[in-house]
Amino acid sequence: MKSKIIGTGSYLPEKVMTNYDLEKLVDTSHDWIVTRTGIEERRIVAEDQCTSDMATIAAQRAMDKAGVKAEEIDLIVLGTITGDYPWPATACIVQANIGAKNAYAYDVSAACSGFLYALASADDFLMAGRGKKALVIGAETLSRAVDWTDRNTCVLFGDGAGAIVLEAQEGDTGVLSCHLHSDGNYLELLYQPGFGAKHPPSAAGIEAKLPYLKMQGNEVFKVAVRSLTEVSKEALKANGFTSADVDQFIPHQANLRILEATTKRLKLTAAQSFINVNKYGNTSGATIPIAIDEASQQGLLKEGDLILSAAFGGGFTWGSTLIRW
Ligand code: ACO
Repeated sequence: MKSKIIGTGSYLPEKVMTNYDLEKLVDTSHDWIVTRTGIEERRIVAEDQCTSDMATIAAQRAMDKAGVKAEEIDLIVLGTITGDYPWPATACIVQANIGAKNAYAYDVSAACSGFLYALASADDFLMAGRGKKALVIGAETLSRAVDWTDRNTCVLFGDGAGAIVLEAQEGDTGVLSCHLHSDGNYLELLYQPGFGAKHPPSAAGIEAKLPYLKMQGNEVFKVAVRSLTEVSKEALKANGFTSADVDQFIPHQANLRILEATTKRLKLTAAQSFINVNKYGNTSGATIPIAIDEASQQGLLKEGDLILSAAFGGGFTWGSTLIRW
């Protein structure tokens, strides 16, 4: 038995924020952002939208593509660090929205690795027989977690959602492996200090901008390239493949320079690598399912293709998966 992807879907908010729009908010320039990150524009949710709204649309689209009804879904796993509420899980809100009354639903908090952690978790449950069909979602409203006066971070992120339907099937196609890692020693290089139990809500905390994402970009960059490369090699080695066997590499879309450095170290060609960070920026846990859906829509993922995916994010967390499409 393997967990096979039988449908994909995504949702990007209509509002486009270009680098030129950002020039009006902070001391930056289109050229600086493109040169350092490859990002040209990103999407921003409407005022009345949040994470569950985007996740619901992406999930519905994936189910429609798979020809699966909501009642058939056994579990919903949602990777996010920008849920609608601290609790309960945003996955439960999606469950109610789509009417998946037979599903159990929970969120996974692994920052930019959230989707791969969610995928690994759903794959384990399906392979253990705790359900036959799973919705795996990555959805983020990062525009509400960044400080729009901090040029070091606000230029990097965007909003969006992607989803897949996984089904436990007999055969050789589907998820071949998932490898996950974490190292909590790096917490303060990339995190959101407030408001949780450590720094509960306070006027002083708002003054100190604790509810906004904090990042030491250049330190993150180095560890990200190293970790993405190692965990991708780990996946290939565990399955007896080399880079030459990969049909599409669909990495977490953080920054074009991170992607280029990683693909170079892995000896992957541009034709093997899927990139859309220029259009959407870093949507954290949503980048990989959005990219999978776009690659699928563009006809880049064919039956039998070998798909490698890898992610890195706050925690630090990182991971990879190999999928026989
Ligand atoms: N516009 C103009 N100048 C800027 C901007 C901006 N938006 N942001 C920073 N600068 C300035 C800095 O203030 C600094 O100025 P100084 O030299 O006068 O002090 C200068 O540019 C260089 O700053 P660095 O941080 O050293 O620039 P760097 O080349 O490292 O690029 C960046 C910064 C793009 C954040 C890079 O470090 C990076 O991409 N890091 C990875 C971080 C990332 O992608 N995180 C996402 C979450 S984790 C993940 O998804 C992998």
